[in-house]
Amino acid sequence: MKRKGVFVLAKNRNRYYYYSYSYSKDYAPGDSQAQLKFQVSEAYKTIRTNLLFSILKSGCKRIVFSSASPGEGKSTVSVNTAISLAQANSRVLLIDCDLRRPTMHRFFNIPNTPGLTNVLGGLNTLGEAMLDTKYPNLKLLCSGLSVPNPSEMLASAQLRELIESLSESFDYIIFDTPPLGVVSDAIPLIKNSDGVVLVVREMVSTFTDLDKTIGNLQMVDAKILGLVYNGSGTSRANKGGYYHNRYSSYYYSKKD
Ligand SMILES: Nc1ncnc2c1ncn2[C@@H]1O[C@H](COP(=O)(O)OP(=O)(O)OP(=O)(O)O)[C@@H](O)[C@H]1O
Ligand SMILES: [Mg+2]
Repeated sequence: MKRKGVFVLAKNRNRYYYYSYSYSKDYAPGDSQAQLKFQVSEAYKTIRTNLLFSILKSGCKRIVFSSASPGEGKSTVSVNTAISLAQANSRVLLIDCDLRRPTMHRFFNIPNTPGLTNVLGGLNTLGEAMLDTKYPNLKLLCSGLSVPNPSEMLASAQLRELIESLSESFDYIIFDTPPLGVVSDAIPLIKNSDGVVLVVREMVSTFTDLDKTIGNLQMVDAKILGLVYNGSGTSRANKGGYYHNRYSSYYYSKKD
């Protein structure tokens, strides 16, 4: 790892949006508090503090995590931010809204069903699908059964109503979503939220991608809360061809 710590990333309409994030493979939900690398947990605390000050309202705060390109660390950052918020005694619900390539269940080593789509489809109750985690204030709603119409589901009135009713029980709802440069699934969620945090990974996203994504978000009047610079200096992000391979596999992998 080359650098850790706080980064200022990008300028947008003459404002700098910044969050900090440093990453260590050792930081996963399975780890005990004692094992967390100091710098990583500090970076998440900074993200948490910035979020606290970015959304000045009472009641439930709904925050979407997305990115321009696949594999930038949206899921990793959203799960760890959710944990960090829960550790500060907020009641947090984490929802896996990446209905195409869900990953939250893997972080917590549980099955992906029942989940959000099961509840929306009337197959399971919310009580059955919303799970406790090892973190006392953190609940998890996995994505659920694979569906043929993920965009429609995420744009549905049923989901809006579900989020409305969940908002009464939580201080934060964190949404993990697919990359905006690939599919527009996240847009309705973003419009129905308090804002979006864009994750940008070193050597994965280009400024052009990021610019385009920010432009698209501005066109729909989305509130961009900030950017998390997921800098790692790892070889994986730096491989030629990786970017386009990931793009195509996002849509067309056999598993989907
Ligand atoms: N800074 C980093 N250094 C090394 N590995 C990382 C870093 N950030 C994320 N990863 C790894 O990269 C992979 C992709 O991360 P993650 O699933 O969080 O990205 P994503 O943006 O949610 O991907 P997708 O677009 O497929 O949903 C994971 O294996 C994760 O552990
Ligand atoms: Mg993801």
